[in-house]
Amino acid sequence: MDNFVNGFSKKNKLEKIDWIINNHFHNNKKAKYILFQYLNDDLSIQNLHDEFIENTISNFYLPFAVAPNYLINGKYYTIPMATEESSIVAAASKTAKFWARFGGLKTEILGVEKIGQIHFFYNGSFLKLESFFKKIKKKIIKELKPITSNMEKRGGGVTSLELVDMNNKIDNYYQIFVKFNTVDSMGANFINSCLEKITDTIKFFVKEKYFLNGNGEKIDFVMSILSNYNPNCLVKASLNCKIEDLEKDNELKDKKFVESFINAVKISKVDTFRAVTHNKGIMNGIDAIVIATGNDFRSVEACIHAYASRDGNYTGLTNAYIKNNDFHFDLTVPISIGTVGGLTKIHPLVKWAHDLLGNPNSSELSQIVAAAGLVQNFAALKSLITTGIQKGHMKMHLSNILNQLGADQIQKNKAVEYFKTNHITHKKVREFLNKK
Ligand code: MEV
Repeated sequence: MDNFVNGFSKKNKLEKIDWIINNHFHNNKKAKYILFQYLNDDLSIQNLHDEFIENTISNFYLPFAVAPNYLINGKYYTIPMATEESSIVAAASKTAKFWARFGGLKTEILGVEKIGQIHFFYNGSFLKLESFFKKIKKKIIKELKPITSNMEKRGGGVTSLELVDMNNKIDNYYQIFVKFNTVDSMGANFINSCLEKITDTIKFFVKEKYFLNGNGEKIDFVMSILSNYNPNCLVKASLNCKIEDLEKDNELKDKKFVESFINAVKISKVDTFRAVTHNKGIMNGIDAIVIATGNDFRSVEACIHAYASRDGNYTGLTNAYIKNNDFHFDLTVPISIGTVGGLTKIHPLVKWAHDLLGNPNSSELSQIVAAAGLVQNFAALKSLITTGIQKGHMKMHLSNILNQLGADQIQKNKAVEYFKTNHITHKKVREFLNKK
């Protein structure tokens, strides 16, 4: 019970910090100092961050980096990446530049549909429910107008509204399954507002039209919420070049590169253990830009992984094959992100990231995100089937090890030089520092 607290959210920031430091850190001054070190000196920025969420006591930094030379549909982008993993940005930059030589990436939008659901139980006849729903459908849409009219002006809105019988899964279970086009916004607030309004309208008409027969018939609305699974909100990114061009490359020649690469992708299609790691490599690129542009990476992650399992088995998301002596590599993923709403205009660094990209609309941003995923997967597979992943990874991780071991700048410079030609392990770096 010692650390139980009532009314924590009512305390001001300093009181919260003091409570935490007293109760969880035995009043340790260093623990308090660390929280203060990460607060922003600019009060306007700090206040902004304080208000993003509840109980903010400090800020949590991730490195914010850029990877240049992404040639996508003939246009060069420098992409913003927020990530903590040491080798991701280096691999992204190197690989984007490599592919720019062959004309870069092609991307396209295959669909923009978003989904929302109203889940409810009804113990009466399906035919009665169906005919009731048909009768009130137009009215539901009319009642939605105050919420949808602005979105409709921008070319979006509700695109379909259907009653779905789910009795084959749970007795008496039904859904109102709603499809949306949310144009440049991720649309979570819009979709949820629409769904709640639809639920209220149905409840109103259930009463108004005496829909329930008074003999034990019941309708229970369980929840109205968007689905983060958007399998028809799809983006495709692809790369291709002549096989000889790849095998001319100094790093790739004599490696049977294309054959091994295609085999690596094939393995991700049949083995879940490998598929998860394969897709994690794709998400290294996708998450970094999704986070940097202020989008909801949890929803993107959840959706993409569900999509990877759409046929009943979890499989790798990329495809690699040879056609007419050309090497082809592509990725199709569902991506639902926004360029308006959320943090996109209020977080200064997020806004900066959008400016860096030339303020793309959501379809252009989704394509950049898919391109980032494909490039990252190419980089990972290329390392795995040639040098192995540790060489590049440890090279980038060396500075973390040196910082962890408290090396000064001179020691760091010497270590970087020495480990250019020597194998890096934590132990070897420690021994190197101890010798000097
Ligand atoms: C590491 O963050 C990602 C990789 O494991 C991806 C892969 O194995 O394809 C290198």
